[in-house]
This record gives sequence, structure tokens and C-alpha cells, in this order.
Amino acid sequence: MIFTVAIDGPAAAGKGTIGRAVAARFGFAHLDTGLLYRAVAAMGGDPVAAARRLSAADLARDDLRSLAAGQAASRVAVIPEVRAALVAFQRRFARAEGGAVLDGRDIGTVICPEAEVKLYVTASAEVRAQRRWLEVGGDAAAVLAEVMERDARDMGRADAPLRAAADAVILDTSDLSIETAVAQAMAAVEKALPQR
Ligand code: CDP
Repeated sequence: MIFTVAIDGPAAAGKGTIGRAVAARFGFAHLDTGLLYRAVAAMGGDPVAAARRLSAADLARDDLRSLAAGQAASRVAVIPEVRAALVAFQRRFARAEGGAVLDGRDIGTVICPEAEVKLYVTASAEVRAQRRWLEVGGDAAAVLAEVMERDARDMGRADAPLRAAADAVILDTSDLSIETAVAQAMAAVEKALPQR
């Protein structure tokens, strides 16, 4: 079965948690596409060349989760040649036999507009910054500023800006527990699955 669940949304909205839960429940492969951009930035040098030679080993680095790595990722993510170099891999992953969940910024709009399920997971900047702060610690005001700066860059760029696809199910997790958000995502997938 070819079946794609596209999950897009701003930083720290809960895409990863929802993506992993959906993939585990339905036995689909899961790709956190943010890791591709984080790895390209972390490799240093010319980001276009880095994107073209990206390999699985680059994604296994243990320094990709920091706030600084997220900021650096969003800077290389505005470069059209970087994005173009990563398209084919993501498309293949999305349409591989067995089902796939991809989370990112442009999955439902650019990478896989034909996805069977599109979710746009969002929450207020304050709620998202609080969640990210619980993960990374440090100065809470700086974490909020980082989240807002990255949102502005991701939404404002010319190539593949962050936005909800017209046919996406919007999941605002500001006032939802993670269990409820996951349950709503599962329900959207169940509804779209072919009858078994
Ligand atoms: O985990 P979090 O939501 O904070 O970030 P991420 O998903 O790891 O993405 C890091 C950065 O990569 C984002 O701020 C985007 O600039 C970029 N990105 C993108 O442009 N397109 C994607 N499909 C995924 C990430």
C-alpha cells in the first residue's frame, strides 16, 4: 500500500511526537525532515554541496537537536538549491511501499501534495516556546525569541514557505494534551485508510 501522512507546522508544535505515534500505530516508516536541514547546516562549508552529498551517517550526529542547530537549519532552508537537492529522497520515502509519515514544513504543499492525509499541527508561540524550554532549558525569554525568529523566517521565505495546505486538517495543540492531539491525528488517518 502507498499511503502518505504529511505533518507540517511551526517549531515545537508537536509534529514529531504525533508523527512517531502515528507511524508506530499503523506500522508506517517515519521521517523527521527537519533533521535533513539540521544536518546540512551542521556539516559546514557550502550548504548546497552538503545537501547534495548528505548521507544517513550525517543524520546520526548527536549535535542536531540544539536551538543553534535549529536556527542554522532555517538559514540554509531558505536556499532553493538546498531544498531542491533534498526533494527526490523525501518523495521516494513518502511514496515507498508500506506507508510513510513525514513531518516538516512543506510536506503537504510541495514534497507530497498527493498525500492521503495532511495535518497542520500548530500552537501559540508561547505554548511552543514553553515546550521547547522544557526540552532544552536555559533562558525562557531567549527560547521564545528563537521560536518566533525561526517562525518568521520559515513563513516568510520565497521558496516553500511554511503554510497549511488547503486540504490539511488543522490541529491546534495550544489547549490539547498530547494524548488528545495524537488521538485526533489517529482518527484522521483511520478515516482515510483504504477499507480492509
Ligand atoms: O523540531 P522543530 O520543529 O523545532 O524543527 P525542525 O522540524 O527540526 O526544522 C528545523 C528547520 O528546518 C526549520 O525551522 C525549517 O527552517 C527547516 N525545515 C524546512 O525548511 N522544511 C522542512 N520540511 C523541515 C524543516
